[in-house]
Amino acid sequence: MQEAKKFRRIGVLTSGGDAPGMNAAVRAVTRTALARGVEVMGIYNGYNGLINGEMKLLDARDVSDILQRGGTMLYTARCLDFKTEEGMARAIEACRENKIDGIVACGGDGTFRGALDLTRRGVPCVAIPCTIDNDISSTDYSIGYDTAVNTVIQMVDRLADTCQSHLRCSVVEVMGRAAGHIAADAGTATGACAIAVGELPVDMDKIVARVKACKEAGRHHFIVMVSEGAGVTQELTAKIEKETGIETRATVLGHVQRGGTPTVRDRVIATRMGHKAVDLLLEGRSNLVVAMRKDDITAVDIEEALRMTKSVDRSLIEMNEEISF
Ligand code: F6P
Repeated sequence: MQEAKKFRRIGVLTSGGDAPGMNAAVRAVTRTALARGVEVMGIYNGYNGLINGEMKLLDARDVSDILQRGGTMLYTARCLDFKTEEGMARAIEACRENKIDGIVACGGDGTFRGALDLTRRGVPCVAIPCTIDNDISSTDYSIGYDTAVNTVIQMVDRLADTCQSHLRCSVVEVMGRAAGHIAADAGTATGACAIAVGELPVDMDKIVARVKACKEAGRHHFIVMVSEGAGVTQELTAKIEKETGIETRATVLGHVQRGGTPTVRDRVIATRMGHKAVDLLLEGRSNLVVAMRKDDITAVDIEEALRMTKSVDRSLIEMNEEISF
């Protein structure tokens, strides 16, 4: 097998914020490579582990029973050293010493930049998009999003129960960094009275009016979904309570959104992307991010992927406004 001669050993790492489904991707990368006669070095703690030589060869059993687990068995980190010339030189040297011919890097934009730098210095890399934020422009879907958004709606359904009992309002802040995809989808899926995201101007008076209108329409619970990027959670909570007279609580869901067993969507897409990443490397292709377009798994040049932008689905927010009263 010509491919196996060129790639005798590949590395796999997870970097940046963890996302449910990362383990499924690591498993798919490992098993695909092993099935093609290529060894797999599991690199721990993201690019830190590459710099510090924290790695071990993985066999098929090392990745047993991880498909269904959240988090990442390889651990993860955000690595500042990797951005320095010295750190990069140590990483290249570690690849040479450990006979790593190429790397599959799972993570978000920061991970892609690391993969780009490594590829430019002669270590072929393919990246797999993993982030609950679903803000990676080159792909319709990033691993972890479906699980996260399902976790959010479970939590919000519970909040709605207690709001219902007390005739209260809950302002729920969800993750997403600057992106409002989680807020838009989870707000729609829970019938929130209003959805506020950082990408669009937040009109707090309008949100107050919507909560009032929901009360007048006979609603007994009032959920206002806010993305962390909107940056208005506390101010909006105080304003709603003051101007509507409805007792209002803020709930910041936080890191609970990043954990938990991955959904079928995350497991299947992670498996397909992991398989594809190894295919690409062994075909001699690199400097790519695996991407999902419609239902196809394809790949995009990393530089191009980093240049692209993705916008929040404004029509979803507007539709929710029209029907949630
Ligand atoms: O990118 C994933 C994410 O969970 C964002 O939604 C959030 O803003 C950020 O990471 C939190 O980062 P940390 O885990 O470092 O607090």
